[in-house]
Amino acid sequence: MNINIEVNNKLIQAKKGETILTALNREGIHVPTLCYMKDLMPTGACRMCVVEVEKKPNLITACSYPVEEGMKIKTNSPRVVHSRKTIIELLLSNHPDDCLYCERNGNCELQKLSEQYNIRERRISGKKNKYRVDQSSASIFRDPAKCILCGRCIRVCEEIEKVTAIDFVGRGSKTIINSAFNKGLNVSSCVNCGQCIMACPTGALHEISHIDRVEAALNNPEKMVVIQHAPSISVSIAEEFGLKPGADINGVMNAALRKIGFSKVFDTSFSADLTIMEESSELIHRITNNGVLPMFTSCCPGWIKYVEEFRPEFIKNLSTCKSPQQMLGAVIKSYYAEQEKINPENIFSVSIMPCTAKKFECSREEMTNNGIADIDAVLTTRELVKLIKAYGIDINNIEPELADNPLGTRSSAGKIFGNTGGVMEAALRTAYFKLTGEELINYKIDAVRGEESRKEAKIQIGKLEIGVAVVSGLAAADKLLTEIENGRKDIHFIEVMTCPGGCIAGGGQPITHDVKRIKSRIKSLYDIDKTDSIKASHQNPYIKEIYENYLGEPLSHKSHELLHTHYSKRDVLK
Ligand code: SF4
Ligand code: SF4
Ligand code: FES
Repeated sequence: MNINIEVNNKLIQAKKGETILTALNREGIHVPTLCYMKDLMPTGACRMCVVEVEKKPNLITACSYPVEEGMKIKTNSPRVVHSRKTIIELLLSNHPDDCLYCERNGNCELQKLSEQYNIRERRISGKKNKYRVDQSSASIFRDPAKCILCGRCIRVCEEIEKVTAIDFVGRGSKTIINSAFNKGLNVSSCVNCGQCIMACPTGALHEISHIDRVEAALNNPEKMVVIQHAPSISVSIAEEFGLKPGADINGVMNAALRKIGFSKVFDTSFSADLTIMEESSELIHRITNNGVLPMFTSCCPGWIKYVEEFRPEFIKNLSTCKSPQQMLGAVIKSYYAEQEKINPENIFSVSIMPCTAKKFECSREEMTNNGIADIDAVLTTRELVKLIKAYGIDINNIEPELADNPLGTRSSAGKIFGNTGGVMEAALRTAYFKLTGEELINYKIDAVRGEESRKEAKIQIGKLEIGVAVVSGLAAADKLLTEIENGRKDIHFIEVMTCPGGCIAGGGQPITHDVKRIKSRIKSLYDIDKTDSIKASHQNPYIKEIYENYLGEPLSHKSHELLHTHYSKRDVLK
């Protein structure tokens, strides 16, 4: 039902029950927010979104207050502006003055608000608290001095990821965000997803950078430095270089990486295909041999750590396949090194990932072969952008190039791994072929596409009906685990991604709250799938070659040695 409200002397229509903020945003009127997060219950904590409503004695928070018939709202009255300015000045009074050196310089909500409200001097000089930074984690760097206590990180960690690794600690002016018992994030239940970074308005949270170690390797004449890029990267960086959001700049990115000095550029979508070959065989083996079901995908290191910490009883349900990053890392230092007659110890293997948890994953002991790490450094998409800019590569003026074979050719099934549901769709395409000996007539499996946090479907493959589910966000995954625990038996295969929407919105991606950008990345991956000629992992000629020449067949002894791993219960501070 529509109701009438007046905003800045203009009559507009609002929907009964919605908040003032929602009604204003629909009309194209922006009200600043700090603690508000779309799709989560408002807390009304920061009061940045206050507006003046006629006949109400106090300013009210637009993010949490519902519209009322006949309301007369002023979004920018002198009283409102004064209140917002005071909040910003109070936040700045305890904030370091180091914007020039800050990770989020130019992309900080506090900095933007200060500019917008024309704050040009420190009028309130509060006592600055001294804080220790936490750089104990393999993935996440925390600097409490830059924290403005908006609570967005806590809410994401608790409500979306069900991890609750961080919380408010202390009282009054001594309040900070901290992990359990004031110990580092490394010993906490943090799964390294980086969703808190994506939520943070300031530079209080960012990834542990691997740029220095990559540059050191590039400058070491004894190292051959190779790089792989994950399926979602080529459609996630265009906007950082002034191009259309979601544009696929795969070829140009390959060229840029060579100009930076990487000897070889490989495509993680190739090893996504390899993952599908192994994972679909594992699924068929489990189904036909009364193995443990449902089987869960294991591509996402945040999800793996969650199971190890919170749900170890489900470890046996995890696929034993390494993630595509680790599979390609293992293959580079074995198959490729042997082919090229290079000592694997002289290879420095870098990956570009949309994910902060991949930094943790590459440091795991299980991800080594004869004491040699599969992967030596992981750059997030954000770090890649920095690297390209630091080397002065003009993305808009270079010619596209192909990735290097034999590890640079992919199917489009490998490419759609970047979207939630992509792994499932790719696996079903190959499982169908393996079980029926025929190719799917229509490769597009609509039932597993879409942005919902859970999708379920029954898929008929020959005589077999397979129950599948796709979940993103660990809270959604945990809910499904509880249903399984309570007796659900109709699902055989489950894809889980920690980040809502999948890797395309991973914790290492360029920071944006613009859903249109994320949607354009999703569309771009599916558009690639529409037009590519190799649509299934088993059709990739270089995948056929690696099995013929090296691995033998999926689940072979060699495959197990290089491409599979194991997980175990993990004790952490909760
Ligand atoms: S990285 Fe993920 S799990 Fe860790 S604190 Fe941030 S949101 Fe929580
Ligand atoms: S760390 Fe960032 S997201 Fe978390 S409370 Fe502080 S400012 Fe907000
Ligand atoms: S954004 Fe409304 S109170 Fe913080």
